[in-house]
Amino acid sequence: SVELNPVLHPLNWLLGNWESDIPGEGTFPTIKPFRYTEKLYFSHVGQPVINFMFNAFNAESKKPMHRECGFIRIQPGTNKVAFMIAQNSGLVEIEEGELTGNHLKLQTEKLARISFAKEPHVQQICRVFQLLPDGKLEQTVTMVTDNQPLSQHLHITYRRSS
Ligand code: HEM
Repeated sequence: SVELNPVLHPLNWLLGNWESDIPGEGTFPTIKPFRYTEKLYFSHVGQPVINFMFNAFNAESKKPMHRECGFIRIQPGTNKVAFMIAQNSGLVEIEEGELTGNHLKLQTEKLARISFAKEPHVQQICRVFQLLPDGKLEQTVTMVTDNQPLSQHLHITYRRSS
């Protein structure tokens, strides 16, 4: 396998494949709460860039639901991290934030969507990835929409899958 680009060392803990251990919780003030499973894939090809894919499924029917993919970069010599993200809902996004140890906090810097994206539109996304002491990974997503202030949408934990 290709050697990790040294620029990515601070994000080593994120690399590999992850699968939800128990179903994640989807919530928002305007929607019916739901449960989902999700697989995350973080890989690299020796460039100072991580490639990622997140695939979510309905916890009961197992049908594919939300999907996103993109690239992650670190500004060399700093703790600044940038995600470039495309979502199957018609959204493209740049999120930036800070890496503090095994804690990564990001928020929307730029957001665009297809002309016929479903409403209400999301206006701001915040997310935290955190490696827990027991080796699990946790993701929490909060968002602002056209008609709701910052509220939690997603909470899920994963364990390494291979
Ligand atoms: C609803 C955004 C990830 C499942 C929504 C809504 C928005 C949104 C704006 C509409 C809320 C409203 O009606 O007030 C996002 C964004 C995501 C994301 C920006 C990623 C950063 C996910 C994931 C799942 C999911 C991973 C897991 C399956 C749902 C469901 C609804 C919903 C089931 C309610 C029904 C619907 O509107 O389709 N989401 N979502 N979302 N989201 Fe997400």
